[in-house]
Amino acid sequence: MTLDQPLPRPPCPDPSASNLHVAVIMDGNGRWATNRGWPRLVGHRKGAERVRELAQACPGLGIRYLTLYAFSTENWKRSTEEVLGLMSLFARYIKREAGRMNKEGVRLRFIGDRTRLDPKLQALCDWIEAETAQNDRFFLSVALNYGGRDEITRATRAMARDVAEGRLEADRIDEATISSYLDTSCLPEPDLVVRTSGESRVSNFLLWQAAYSEYVFTPVLWPDFTPETMRVILDTFLSRERRFGGVPA
Ligand code: FPP
Repeated sequence: MTLDQPLPRPPCPDPSASNLHVAVIMDGNGRWATNRGWPRLVGHRKGAERVRELAQACPGLGIRYLTLYAFSTENWKRSTEEVLGLMSLFARYIKREAGRMNKEGVRLRFIGDRTRLDPKLQALCDWIEAETAQNDRFFLSVALNYGGRDEITRATRAMARDVAEGRLEADRIDEATISSYLDTSCLPEPDLVVRTSGESRVSNFLLWQAAYSEYVFTPVLWPDFTPETMRVILDTFLSRERRFGGVPA
């Protein structure tokens, strides 16, 4: 391959302007459970039900891409019980939802560094990605062992390797090149990032991709987040004027 040829990348879907990409930092599961005197895992289980419900409602709300922050590179600091509980919840979700996803045209993908996950969970992630690869009605991406800085670091290493091995010319690296090395290379940039539970932090989520995204912070705890909550948030979002650094028309 010569330096002038573009790098081979998997085929990307064609994101059209009316197909919103919403990314969600699902926060507040622990507090939701603790407020009721229940173990934190009960909140995560309820949170998984909300994921199922929202994913089904998204196409009807005009959302074609939904990206969910399910486990960050920092979440390993939690108790072993909570980490293992979350991992088995992810595995169960994949196994239970596979049939429905194919029936409803959902393509499921994972972003983040999956090499640190249990090999069985890695295999399940690979399996469901292959199983749903032909679907294109709705794109669900789940961030597992994901951190924006980690993603950019991994992308930088991959670019450095490609430069060293003659597949990429350093002076030709531009923003599109960097985007193409990220885990989200086949996704449009998020139009909107929502964070639940009243926290107003970005927490290392989609640092590169959300450069021009709108943010909505809601006090609703994730286990209480319904499709109706999303509909109200979308109304707020759609009433905002997005200028991308320009001036009003
Ligand atoms: C943050 O709330 C939430 C998480 C770290 C886990 C998110 C996971 C789910 C919603 C479960 C299932 C997901 C899928 C994709 C099947 P927190 O526990 O930090 O809440 P707190 O701030 O109240 O403690």
